[in-house]
Amino acid sequence: MCVPLQQWAGVAVWLLWWRIHRTVLPLSNLMATAPDQSCPCFSCCHSPFSFCFAQTLLELVAHQTHQKQLQVSPGGRFDCGPERLLARADCEARGCCYIPGPGPRSGPGPPWCFFPRGYRSYRAENLTATESGFSARLRRVAAAFLPAAVDTVRLDLALETPARLRFTLRDAARQRYEVPLATPRVQGRAPRTLYGLQVSQDPFGLVVCRQRGGTVLLNTTVAPLIFTDQFLQISTSLPSQFISGLGEHLTPLFLDTAWSRVTLWNRDMAPAPHVNLYGSHPFYLVMEDDGSAHGVFLLNSNAMDVLLQPSPALTWRTTGGILDFYIFLGPDPKSVVRQYLDVVGFPFMPPYWGLGFHLCRWGYSSTDITRQVVANMTAARFPLDVQWNDLDYADAKRDFTFNKKGFRDYPEMVRDFHSRGLRYIMIVDAGISSSGPPGTYKPYDEGLKRGVFIRNATGQPLIGKVWPGPTAFPDFTNPRTHEWWHDMVKDFHEQVPFDGMWLVSGPLYIPPMCVFGGRLQAGTICASSQQYLSSHYNLHSLYGLTEAMASHSALLRVRGKRPFIISRSTFAGHGRYAGHWTGDVGSDWEQLYYSIPEVLLFNLFGVPLVGADICGFAGSTSEELCVRWTQLGAFYPFMRNHNDHGTRPQEPYSFSPAAQAAMRSALHLRYSLLPFLYTLFHRAHSAGETVARPLFLEFPTDPNTWAVDRQLLWGGGLLVTPVLEAGQTKVRGYFPAGTWYSLAGVSSPGAVCGSCPSPAFDSTIHSKGQWILLPAPLDTINVHARAGHILPLQVSPLTAQSRSKAMALVVALTPDGFARGDLFWDDGDSWETFERGDYTEILFLASNDAVLSQLLRASPHLDGILLEAVTVLGVTSPPRRVLANGAIVSDFSYRSDTQVLRVPVSLPMWEQFVISWS
Ligand SMILES: *[C@@H]1O[C@H](CO)[C@@H](O)[C@H](O)[C@H]1NC(C)=O
Ligand SMILES: *[C@@H]1O[C@H](CO)[C@@H](O)[C@H](O)[C@H]1NC(C)=O
Ligand SMILES: *[C@@H]1O[C@H](CO)[C@@H](O)[C@H](O)[C@H]1NC(C)=O
Ligand SMILES: *[C@@H]1O[C@H](CO)[C@@H](O)[C@H](O)[C@H]1NC(C)=O
Repeated sequence: MCVPLQQWAGVAVWLLWWRIHRTVLPLSNLMATAPDQSCPCFSCCHSPFSFCFAQTLLELVAHQTHQKQLQVSPGGRFDCGPERLLARADCEARGCCYIPGPGPRSGPGPPWCFFPRGYRSYRAENLTATESGFSARLRRVAAAFLPAAVDTVRLDLALETPARLRFTLRDAARQRYEVPLATPRVQGRAPRTLYGLQVSQDPFGLVVCRQRGGTVLLNTTVAPLIFTDQFLQISTSLPSQFISGLGEHLTPLFLDTAWSRVTLWNRDMAPAPHVNLYGSHPFYLVMEDDGSAHGVFLLNSNAMDVLLQPSPALTWRTTGGILDFYIFLGPDPKSVVRQYLDVVGFPFMPPYWGLGFHLCRWGYSSTDITRQVVANMTAARFPLDVQWNDLDYADAKRDFTFNKKGFRDYPEMVRDFHSRGLRYIMIVDAGISSSGPPGTYKPYDEGLKRGVFIRNATGQPLIGKVWPGPTAFPDFTNPRTHEWWHDMVKDFHEQVPFDGMWLVSGPLYIPPMCVFGGRLQAGTICASSQQYLSSHYNLHSLYGLTEAMASHSALLRVRGKRPFIISRSTFAGHGRYAGHWTGDVGSDWEQLYYSIPEVLLFNLFGVPLVGADICGFAGSTSEELCVRWTQLGAFYPFMRNHNDHGTRPQEPYSFSPAAQAAMRSALHLRYSLLPFLYTLFHRAHSAGETVARPLFLEFPTDPNTWAVDRQLLWGGGLLVTPVLEAGQTKVRGYFPAGTWYSLAGVSSPGAVCGSCPSPAFDSTIHSKGQWILLPAPLDTINVHARAGHILPLQVSPLTAQSRSKAMALVVALTPDGFARGDLFWDDGDSWETFERGDYTEILFLASNDAVLSQLLRASPHLDGILLEAVTVLGVTSPPRRVLANGAIVSDFSYRSDTQVLRVPVSLPMWEQFVISWS
């Protein structure tokens, strides 16, 4: 059975190809777009518009028996015993190869029992053209070794856009559960595609390659398709080992392809390596050797494993649903992200205040204490925009209640905060307490009456256990539940005028018969809990997403403003409705580092509003760790300091004066950059971009950047290089080729001051693409502006309420004197300002010794805001004369050592301006 590779190669000449869709396009068109000769998919078809159907005449080789073991390289072996370890006899009975390895049988490493090449499982038949692509039937041709194998699988493939294709594999005879995520409906077939396709008939396999260059992105022929009721598996080769994504896990930015397993099944667990965490994002992005990128999204919400192996290759294993794949061709990594977000949705636009500093702790046990926190923050001159409470406020830990002891004056406290310009958010748990006598707790009584809870096998509310004791769980896949949830939110908001919601879908109780154990098994179906759309077995990982959807629409209806929601449990598409915090991270240096890849990955997943609990949640922080964490946290898109109860206090004011000063300056840096940050969020919301960005997105052709996950970018223009280790006063960072200007000397609250502290070191880096050692004393975070970018700043802001203060620009010139940037500005809080056109958008351009602004769209929202200073970095020769809108500016300053030109001005931001120097 284990046929040598060479024998198969000999048979390859028997490949029989034929074309379908002869009528797709006139010949002239075909000629005009003849594909690259090197694309293996089209070596015979000569048309990007048709696909080849390769029929490997397996029968011809079937009689070439008595072969030696197939020389499948150990790194390329696909496990033939996915559900259990097989002894040789059992393995060979499946028609697989058995080669004992040196390592332990069950540990990471090549499987001892593996599929020979060409292992038959399904054979493609009846390939037919459809309006959007083609479809085929896959007939099972081998005896199945797993129960409930599907005999006929329907393949549908759609050429949705030039860069995106979708294919689904379904049971041809029976409707199965499909993820209820609204994805784009596409008519017809994309005329010119970046991809070429090839279908291998027997065994069935699909190949997707690039038209240009011919790189094979997907090849599912490498191992057999398995399609049973509760075990679906498909494998593919990968064009490189640089694969990122597949969250949520505590991992570096790029995954380990040396036999690793990644599990997706949402669960509440303090972040630790190698285990599944709160969210499921079955999407990966691969960097190809030439700097191109592609992405793959498996739209499936069942518990799944993804296996990575060194050849390199990847295997999806899921326990239900269908196989619904999207492939995104990029060809650059930013485009891959946008193409993915085209499918799952662009991120929501957060209110401006949501980008300020948030402070929370479990253990603020009364309104007195909570008020003290705010007073202490103010006294210590720390900016604070949003005060939070954890469980402490609630009565017996029940949602939508507050305790009348410590929180007697809770509504007044929230109103007081509002009168000082603060916002307020409290925790809301998914579990609804079910233990009180009827008539004592409206959310449960009303929920029961309206039938909104998840049901068990006997049709009664499934009762689990969360903080308040016995709890029922709202079924957010039921539209009635959304109405009920809205009514509860509204009732509570009428008492306590909160501004946002913090969602925790606590440890959902799983009836013991449903527990998988450590491994995914082709196991028992969990029939005991039923939701409106399907069983909890299928919907489990969608719980947090559906809760976020319900809360988003409830908050919008109740407040009439942009909803602000932060949730721990997520699924693909979450960013449309809510942000994310990375859960119960420990107060240690390792978790400080891991927060960077986590924040970067959630940006790739379309959830840009993300951050880790600053200074760590669990355990006691140290002063040094908390300073470093606050410095990095100032560059989390969502910035919150949150602490466990019973640990040492970690509010910024609870540290030494020196530590406070360092934190204050990091906070001021963030606050002065808020106009820039807000504009990035607008770009994410309107164009599917990322906010916190891994370097490889900006520099895909520099492979040195790919694995960099100890630094992050804001947009394309700002590079942050934090210290992530104890006791360090220097930090190494990678600087891609180009000029990078340190913001140390220019951005302190006085971007305008003539006497700003001069940078303590040579602040301009001219990099050829290098690692550079930077000074990083405890009071400093290294932040560099990238040449070619213009950053809009706010001058001396105190809180996000300071958005009516004057603005400043930092202009980072390229060596040839060019830079550009933009500003999005609206009222910061209203729903769909962009969609309604109620905003101002300004383009800033620098070239030929001048900076000018261009109003792309005007609205009254910028009225009254002045531009007070322009700092130009990289002015190589001393200017003699500076003009602002033609008028001479006499008090400009220039330093030839730093090549910084500062121009104090007083110009209306809402009008176009020109500042020039000569
Ligand atoms: C392909 O079509 C033929 C003729 O309609 C049918 O007999 C056969 O069962 C089909 N194959 C599959 C796998 O559905
Ligand atoms: C796909 O994989 C199969 C099995 O490894 C291999 O024989 C075939 O050449 C591959 N196809 C392409 C286009 O690389
Ligand atoms: C606020 O500051 C006062 C004075 O330093 C201190 O006694 C109090 O414990 C602080 N309160 C909180 C909640 O940190
Ligand atoms: C279903 O839940 C109810 C409580 O709501 C409980 O009394 C009953 O025993 C449960 N049934 C099963 C089969 O677990």
